[in-house]
This record gives sequence, C-alpha cells and structure tokens, in this order.
Amino acid sequence: MKHQNQSPLKNKWVLITGASSGFGAAAACAFGAKGAKLLLGARRVDRLKQVAAEARKNGAVEAHYHKLDVSQTASVKAFMDWATGKIRNPKSEFRTLHVLINNAGGAHGLDTVAEGKDADWEAMIQSNVLGVVRMTRAALPLMPRDAGASIINIGSVAGHTAYEGGAVYCAAKAGELQITRALRHELLGTGIRVGTVDPGLAETEFSLVRFKGDGAQAKKVYQGMKPLTAEDIAEILVWVAGRPSHVNIDELIVKPVDQAEVGKVFRRKK
Ligand SMILES: NC(=O)c1ccc[n+]([C@@H]2O[C@H](COP(=O)([O-])OP(=O)(O)OC[C@H]3O[C@@H](n4cnc5c(N)ncnc54)[C@H](OP(=O)(O)O)[C@@H]3O)[C@@H](O)[C@H]2O)c1
Repeated sequence: MKHQNQSPLKNKWVLITGASSGFGAAAACAFGAKGAKLLLGARRVDRLKQVAAEARKNGAVEAHYHKLDVSQTASVKAFMDWATGKIRNPKSEFRTLHVLINNAGGAHGLDTVAEGKDADWEAMIQSNVLGVVRMTRAALPLMPRDAGASIINIGSVAGHTAYEGGAVYCAAKAGELQITRALRHELLGTGIRVGTVDPGLAETEFSLVRFKGDGAQAKKVYQGMKPLTAEDIAEILVWVAGRPSHVNIDELIVKPVDQAEVGKVFRRKK
C-alpha cells in the first residue's frame, strides 16, 4: 500500500467563504496546516485579518483576505477579480483554484412562517442558496480539469429534516443540497469533485447570529450536551479535499453523538 508523505494540498490555492468565524476560520487554520495557500472572504474584514494571521502561524504558505458579501453579485465579482489576480500570479507554482469551500451562510431567526420576517427569509436564501451558485459560477473558470479540484458546500441536517421555526433555513439548506447534486451532473467529465458536508449542532457564532446577538438564548442551544466544534468540521473538510483525485465524497452528515436527530438531543442534568 502506498502512503503519501507530502499533503496533496501543499501550495494549492484554497478559497473559503465565511472565513471570519466558525467553520470557515477553523478551516483556514486546518488547510493552512497542510501548507495550502488561502484566499479568505467574509464581510468582517478585521476578523479575516486575524484569521489569516492565525492560518499563517499554522503553516499556510500564503493567506490573503478580501471583503466578500456572497449575497451581492457585485461583491462576488470584485472578490473573484481580486482572487484571480492572486491565483494567476506568474510567481505562483499552481495557477488554478484547487478547492472552493462554499461555507458562508447561517440562520436568521427561529420564527414560524406565520410570524416570519421578510428580511430574515431573504438573507437566508441570498447567502445559503444564491451565494453558493454565485461563487461557484465565478470560481469555475479558475478550477483545473482532471486534477483533483473540489467544490465543497456546507449544508446542514436542516437540509434533510424540517423543524418548527426553521422553514426557510431548512428550505435553504435543502436547496444547497440539490445545487450540490445538480452540479455533480453538470461537472461530470471535468474531474472536478463536488460534495456537501452537512453538520448537526456545532458551537460557533451560528446561534448568536440566529438569535440576533442574544448570547443567553444562543448558549441554551448547547446546554448539557457536547456539540461539534468548528475544528471537528475543519478536519473533515481537509480530509474530503485530500482524497485521491478519483474519489468523490458526495454527502456527509456529521452530528454530535448527543444528537440522534434534529430536535432529539441528549442533555445531561447539572
Ligand atoms: N453551527 C452549526 O450548528 C451549523 C450546522 C450546520 C450548518 N451550519 C452552516 O455552516 C456554515 C458556517 O456557519 P458557522 O456555524 O461557522 O457560523 P458562524 O460562526 O456564524 O460563521 C458564518 C460565517 O459566514 C459568514 N457570512 C454570513 N453571511 C455572509 C455573506 N452574506 N457574505 C459573506 N460571508 C457571510 C460570516 O462572516 P461575516 O459575518 O463576517 O460576513 C461567518 O464568517 C453556514 O453555512 C451555516 O449555515 C452551521
């Protein structure tokens, strides 16, 4: 059996959306540790700066960042123009994008449909659904054919199971799942791999965003149970991207052992 000494991600360009916190920030460090070159995007540039510094400390050969709002086509275009300049730099060993991680997104509110707010619905569809297709459309021309490149989308257990108060978030992540599947058809024959990693409860800024900054409410989501960490998911993303080039990890559901199903969570009493 052959074992590779050098990571297949060494010196390769990896683009991560939503890299300012949670899974995206942890993924920057994890891909950095494999010697990848990073292109990081999100709206909070001050946070991206810290993440890029951390990723460099972890071993990233290069870590660059630029403001990105995946809900705006103009922002995606400006970001990808910037990213293209970095990737096509004649000094670059690999002048293609090896990994695209469509991670930017999240939930806004936990209202029933009867109580739902247009702004929350629109933000969720814009980032979790349209953000994925906008970024993918813009990134595809930079991705090499038959060279083990990967598009990894971040879905959710919410894309598989509906729950009260989650109608639009569940719809958005079900949309992400179907986009991933459609892309696999569209890219058949290119050698570009397409997959989705769908986590359950993970303690990031996700609940803080969902509950609009209410830290106490956010904390309750994880009370008495052991949630996934951002690092757990980051490690899996690196593993998915590092499989041999003929192997596609289609769909991966990852839950904490304390979560049997959405809404069925084991909580320890204090
Ligand atoms: N944590 C969980 O339990 C869980 C479970 C399943 C799936 N997910 C999914 O995992 C992904 C990452 O979430 P997380 O848990 O790591 O939460 P998080 O800590 O809140 O991170 C979300 C990231 O997405 C970015 N983002 C949001 N809207 C954006 C936009 N319009 N344009 C660009 N960036 C945007 C945020 O950056 P800025 O605010 O700086 O733009 C942030 O970096 C999301 O797609 C989420 O739906 C999370």
